[in-house]
Amino acid sequence: MEIIIKDDYQQMSRTAAEIVVEVLNTRPNAVFGMATGSTPLGLYQELVRLHKQEQLDFSRVTTFNLDEYVGLPVNHPQSYHYFMHEHFFKHVNIPAQNINIPSGTTSNYRAFCEWYEQRITECGGIDLQILGIGSDGHIAFNEPASSLSSRTRLKTLSKQTIDDNARFFDRREEVPVYAITMGVGTILDARKLILLASSKKKAKAIAQAVEGPVTSIVTASALQLHPDATVLVDQEAAGQLAMRDYYEFIYAAKPGAPRT
Ligand code: F6R
Repeated sequence: MEIIIKDDYQQMSRTAAEIVVEVLNTRPNAVFGMATGSTPLGLYQELVRLHKQEQLDFSRVTTFNLDEYVGLPVNHPQSYHYFMHEHFFKHVNIPAQNINIPSGTTSNYRAFCEWYEQRITECGGIDLQILGIGSDGHIAFNEPASSLSSRTRLKTLSKQTIDDNARFFDRREEVPVYAITMGVGTILDARKLILLASSKKKAKAIAQAVEGPVTSIVTASALQLHPDATVLVDQEAAGQLAMRDYYEFIYAAKPGAPRT
């Protein structure tokens, strides 16, 4: 696992965009796994800027979002369909038929989840999966005690996630209790993972994910099992990392490291 600590949110977002661009440059038809929430907003803004000002081309890209709330129609302002459209898709040139987001309103969740997994496989798998982390250590909506080999399925959100996400809704009772989410196993199948986190609120979860035991209680700790995972954080989110100096030393020495 590579740990990159940047001074602030903006620098973290810019570094994440550089990683996306690197993948896109080597693979113009890359398959990206997308996350929602506050954390990737800066990354999406930077990618939109690169598209508008530097002609970064997404015309051959395919995307798969991690999750969606159950029960929210696609045009609900808090649905992840709406979020992705507003903050990213409507500003770049990804063909509509290449965009995949779990359905929160299907009449058959089980069949939909199976189809979603199949569709990822048909598209050749995910080249780069972007992740955030919940304050309870979740990735996507894989709440504590989710199987580390889980696949796309329906999940009940934890009380902590409902509390955390209540900030986006008028009232706590409006936060959906269920979501459809890629599984930890689905995420681990991606060829490359980047997990972003900023602010003090994420410091404990980051320390547990990076330095704690691999456990289903902190599903982000499953990244330790992945051969190409990068954790990209700002100073505050790095605040509880015991080996922080070591990670900074490694990152600073990287440009001079032998190339092969
Ligand atoms: C969203 C997702 C979640 C969020 C996490 C952090 O697609 O998968 O795991 O990444 O809840 O959310 P923010 O960034 O709002 O703190």
